[in-house]
Amino acid sequence: MTTKVKPEKNKKSSKPKNPKETKKDKIQNKVLVVYYSRTGLTRKVSESICKKLGAQLSEIVDKKDRSGAMGYLIAGKDATQKKITQITYDIKPSDYGTIIIGGPVWAWTMSPAIRSYITENKDILKTKKLAFFATQGGDGAEKKFKAMQEIIGSGPAHTLIINSRDFRDGSFEKKIDGFVKSF
Ligand SMILES: Cc1cc2nc3c(=O)[nH]c(=O)nc-3n(C[C@H](O)[C@H](O)[C@H](O)COP(=O)(O)O)c2cc1C
Repeated sequence: MTTKVKPEKNKKSSKPKNPKETKKDKIQNKVLVVYYSRTGLTRKVSESICKKLGAQLSEIVDKKDRSGAMGYLIAGKDATQKKITQITYDIKPSDYGTIIIGGPVWAWTMSPAIRSYITENKDILKTKKLAFFATQGGDGAEKKFKAMQEIIGSGPAHTLIINSRDFRDGSFEKKIDGFVKSF
């Protein structure tokens, strides 16, 4: 699923266009937020980041059924065993200068959908400015980012971690604001 989220007023995308901007500049200036979400929390963060940055949103869909208690158990096992999975997504990272990759922490590492995405795209991703974000119950995001960096061969310029309690007490939007301002 791909959605172009309408940027908030007075944000980056409202800057006047530079007539001397080349095709390469245009790519450099474009931001893609690509994410996987099983239960919607990472989607919520992704949509907010996109709105604040005027970025393009792209969802990675895992073709494997991850629903219900059995889906949860298999998800944990697949993540622990560093499995890849069949995924779909409809935006190529090559057309963007900055790629923000978001997903939940599963078993102190990345979900198979994110592992598959970065494995498939590592050669292009390592030529881009990267940022990673994760949602989690409370632990594992740093380990997950390190594992992602090892696969891609390049690290993130910015990171963001949102815990379950940040959603409960509403502080997640403030964290997103800090992340967005760091760009
Ligand atoms: C299979 C599985 C394993 C998980 N493992 C962890 C973990 O190691 N550490 C953690 O803090 N949260 C863990 N969680 C919780 C998720 O990271 C958290 O609920 C996340 O915000 C869900 O994001 P989503 O709604 O985008 O799918 C796990 C969740 C699942 C489904």
